Amino acid sequence: MSKGPIGVFDSGYGGLTVLKEITEMLPAYDYIYLGDNARAPYGGRSFDTVYQYTLQCVEWFFKMGCPLVIIACNTASAKALRTIQQKDLPLMDPDKRVLGVIRPTTEIIGNYTKTNQVGILGTQGTVQSNSYPTEIAKFFPNVTVLQQACPMWVPLIENNEYLSAGADYFIQKNIQQLLDQSSDIDTILLACTHYPLLLDKLRQYVPAGTTLLSQGHIVAKSLKEYLEKHQPLEEKCTKNGRVSFYTTDSTDDFDQQGAVFYGKPIISTHLEL
Ligand code: DGL
Repeated sequence: MSKGPIGVFDSGYGGLTVLKEITEMLPAYDYIYLGDNARAPYGGRSFDTVYQYTLQCVEWFFKMGCPLVIIACNTASAKALRTIQQKDLPLMDPDKRVLGVIRPTTEIIGNYTKTNQVGILGTQGTVQSNSYPTEIAKFFPNVTVLQQACPMWVPLIENNEYLSAGADYFIQKNIQQLLDQSSDIDTILLACTHYPLLLDKLRQYVPAGTTLLSQGHIVAKSLKEYLEKHQPLEEKCTKNGRVSFYTTDSTDDFDQQGAVFYGKPIISTHLEL
């Protein structure tokens, strides 16, 4: 197998919050980011649609030579990853790897809670898949998981309305719906890679002392450990410190909006899938 960059995928801009942390922790590698903005958000789409879209994007990453793809999207990790890993990957290229964001998070989340009550905020797709309660139970059987879908949050972010007063209405409403399920939640996971942009607003609506967890750092640390443990794969990842960006929608929008998520200027290329 030839060498290539690490692929990082999201339905839109959200995965850039993960890529930002990954490139800070592992700057030597080359990366390709793909945002499927033309078809975002994925959150309300059916299992099969999310699977088809994600598979198509993974195939593209493989064509670009990526030995490893990170699905930096909870919705796609919840709805498509397992099928891709178990059914498609062995046929496409068994030496390549596709990893998600749910496993690295569920492995450590129990370490943050003292009350053993954890809240999950995610898209409808992520919450309906029940992936978080199922996976957390494997690592932390004593932790109770309360979930709340926030269907308006990604559209507000993708449409650059997340700082508007209108956004507060939906943010407060969904936080309250989560907190109404238990007064003992002390740790809340932002189980959608778009949500870190809402951190300042979220802090206003959660009780003081609540831990709000974003996934970027967790996923970056987990990737670092994974590469250390899997030397043959690590050696197939090129290391020139280059990052390139692709979007299935307008590059002008992506460059402008994406920079807010990534924290640095972006110049993207359009991809027709
Ligand atoms: N960033 C994606 C996630 O983590 C957003 C999903 C969507 O497109 O609705 O779930």
